[in-house]
Amino acid sequence: MDKFVINGGAKLSGSIAVLGAKNSALKILAATVLSDQKCIINNFPFIEDTNIAIEILRDLGASVDVDKERKMVIVNPATINKTVLDPVLVRKLRSSILFAGPILARFGQVQMNHPGGCVIGKRPIDLFINGFEKFGAGVDFTEDGFKLIAKSGKLKASNIFFPQITVTGTETMMMTAVLAEGKTILNNCAMEPEIPALAEYLNKCGAKIKGAGTHTIEIEGVDKIYGSYFDVIPDRIEAGTFVMMGLLTGSEIKIENCNPEHLGAVLPILEKAGAKLEIGENYIITKPSQMKAVSVVTHEYPGFATDLQSPYTLLMTQVQDQSIVHESIFEGRLFFTDQLNSMGANIIMCDPHRVVVNGPTKLYGKKLTSPDLRAGITMVLAGMIAEGTTTIENIYQIDRGYENIEARLQKLGADIKRVTS
Ligand code: EPU
Repeated sequence: MDKFVINGGAKLSGSIAVLGAKNSALKILAATVLSDQKCIINNFPFIEDTNIAIEILRDLGASVDVDKERKMVIVNPATINKTVLDPVLVRKLRSSILFAGPILARFGQVQMNHPGGCVIGKRPIDLFINGFEKFGAGVDFTEDGFKLIAKSGKLKASNIFFPQITVTGTETMMMTAVLAEGKTILNNCAMEPEIPALAEYLNKCGAKIKGAGTHTIEIEGVDKIYGSYFDVIPDRIEAGTFVMMGLLTGSEIKIENCNPEHLGAVLPILEKAGAKLEIGENYIITKPSQMKAVSVVTHEYPGFATDLQSPYTLLMTQVQDQSIVHESIFEGRLFFTDQLNSMGANIIMCDPHRVVVNGPTKLYGKKLTSPDLRAGITMVLAGMIAEGTTTIENIYQIDRGYENIEARLQKLGADIKRVTS
């Protein structure tokens, strides 16, 4: 098992490029199943989660050619000959649920185990099951999962109201609807930038989707989805994480190839907390800043992204005064703060959704274990500002979403190395 060993205190300088978004690439991989024609995906992030999604496609019978140098993946879904997802792969990745809708829409049936993933990955899938039923699918619950069959051979359009805003739920129902007979209306949809990006790709392939990026999406079903190409949008969470890394280390760094507009409320909140940022069309430069505590509540897009809650919580340990971080989306996503406390932070958990952060506190190097992707990268940042040496175990969780992260941070001047044992 690999681990990261980090010696804290290095000042950073230079620039770091943001790569393609994990949470966009995963959806495009799933959407390729809707067609029997080739899809070319550019700016593709080669990370553990997308590797597993590629394995799922190959297991279904698709051919997938990978060109890491050109950051390109070519999927040929014509040869898909299975409608049962491999249980071992499904257990590794919450996002495996994204394949259920496209397989059901194209082949009229699908079977899979309950999706797994990290500590926050094992969350409910009721909104997906309810949605599939509305399209006319019969649901049989198996011992470990479920089986869906289009009752009349083909799915029928539907009017779906999501009782809770769900990102992959919105995307899944959008992908399911493109081949359903008639006009589907999805209400109370998530608006994350990955959703209009997926709609844009599907429309290029012949789908008729309107309203993606708003709370109401209309989809006119079509008979066929064609092949196309797609440039994965920049990873907004990587961008936000690097901005907070610049602020935490008091460094001037340039975060390139990003779309600052996709950060929604994050940059205004950082600026309110005193961050000095130069924001361009596709870059952000961080400047050494005198920052103060500002409380935050995570919220669906364009609110403050839950995926940036953990580095923000760390940032609050380094500023003057007290703040409350309220994680409104996921229960359990604040539990990593006990590991920051072991480094010297003063974070009090009020309940599974809220912590009080008292700053500033000096952090000291410790042995940590990464519980999930975003908490994991936060531990890397904590190690970079701590006195002494920090060791982070279970970095598979970090490799799930950040490509070649140690080499990219070393280029900025960070003292981080991967140790393989
Ligand atoms: N929920 C249900 N039932 C469902 C689906 C969701 O109760 O059937 C609940 C969840 O438990 C959660 C809330 O609804 O409390 C919202 O979850 P959502 O479905 O929006 O999350 P997701 O689509 O599974 C995506 C991202 C996450 C990101 C969230 C919120 C992907 C592949 N994943 O997850 O990204 O945190 O939206 O923005 O797009 C990450 O990249 O580290 C990550 C966890």
